[in-house]
Amino acid sequence: MENPAFLAAPQAIFPGLRARGALPLGDRGVLLTRGADIAALLTNPEVFSSGMATTQTGTERPLIPLQIDPPKHREYRKILDPLFSPQRMKEMDGPITQLARRLVDAIAAEDEVDFVQQFSLRFPSQVFLTLLGLPLDELPTFLEMKDGFIRPESITGQPRDHEDSVALLKKTASAVYEYFDAVIADRRAAPGDDIVSRFLETEVEGARLSHEDILDICFLFLVAGLDTVSASLDCMMLHLAQHPDRRASLVADPALIPGAVEELLRWESPVMMVARFATRDTEIGGCPVRKGQVVTGLLGSANTDEQELPDPGVVRFDRDPNRHIAFGRGPHRCLGSHLARLELRIALREWHARIPDYRVPDGFEPGFTTTIRSLTTLPLRLGGR
Ligand code: HEM
Repeated sequence: MENPAFLAAPQAIFPGLRARGALPLGDRGVLLTRGADIAALLTNPEVFSSGMATTQTGTERPLIPLQIDPPKHREYRKILDPLFSPQRMKEMDGPITQLARRLVDAIAAEDEVDFVQQFSLRFPSQVFLTLLGLPLDELPTFLEMKDGFIRPESITGQPRDHEDSVALLKKTASAVYEYFDAVIADRRAAPGDDIVSRFLETEVEGARLSHEDILDICFLFLVAGLDTVSASLDCMMLHLAQHPDRRASLVADPALIPGAVEELLRWESPVMMVARFATRDTEIGGCPVRKGQVVTGLLGSANTDEQELPDPGVVRFDRDPNRHIAFGRGPHRCLGSHLARLELRIALREWHARIPDYRVPDGFEPGFTTTIRSLTTLPLRLGGR
């Protein structure tokens, strides 16, 4: 899974993996690649649980709602879903457009830019700061917290399980709790039109979120809502840079952008996998699973499974229907999918309105990260230069 060739073009490897069915991986559990098996994994939370030991995440408590199983999980989603509905997210259209325009304006006149450093790393974090009602100059603090938590190894230069990386993870987790503690206290004292104020005021069937609930939700947003969008943007822009005909179709007809976002989410599946823990001895896809074992599903493989959709190997921006599972499936399906879609559509729209022509420099070899397929760097030469 960490093989650079696989990360660069997993779509070429998936058919061979699917032909082998559910794969036992010894101590690392079982790997699923077929759409039907992954659907079974994600829609049976009694057998395949999302609860994991918090020692694995470095947090004090489980992340809400990601690491909570039904029925408690349903209570959280009842409160959270309306706050992230398509209608609610539409209210963010204006502010998100402004953020994207500002970033594009700052680079449009350059000859060569690093899309990662100058756009994809910043944009989702700026959106999140706006959602939280925080000033944009908090960005460096935010990026530091995110990286210290998500990839401490990139800062310490030591493997993830090395004591230095574990210590940084723990230190960052405490700093994140402290940071959001202060944000919640501020909003309690002076509510505004931001997401934390909404968390504080929302009541569904007599249930409210506690201070700790809100803290744990904010923590998860940092983990789930930033790198996922950055990675999607990286995959999409590299794809469009490498396929000038597809890029030209978006420039000529921006109405294709929503369809392109869905198709590129399907094809690139930036969140590569989801994992569950067996609550008892069982089997899936004909493969025995022992209680406590991890079962991992490769979303990109499900999204290119010929048993699930016609012509899965063809990238078509007008694919309809397009029932991909890049946002997962079942009870834990992505809470932020409407926000993510809005961000991705706006980013592609604003970028292509100002920068219709770009390409990767000759000889550039993309280096993808694993688990979430983001790029470490994406140089783009602008305007046919
Ligand atoms: C294109 C960007 C994104 C992709 C591809 C993506 C993908 C996913 C996937 C695959 C899951 C399911 C995980 C599982 O089943 O274990 C998930 C869950 C989740 N995502 Fe996203 N996500 C994206 C953006 C966002 C954003 C912007 C937010 C911020 C609000 C967000 C918040 C969440 C939350 C809170 C969950 C947990 C839902 C639950 O457990 O009920 N995601 N996401």
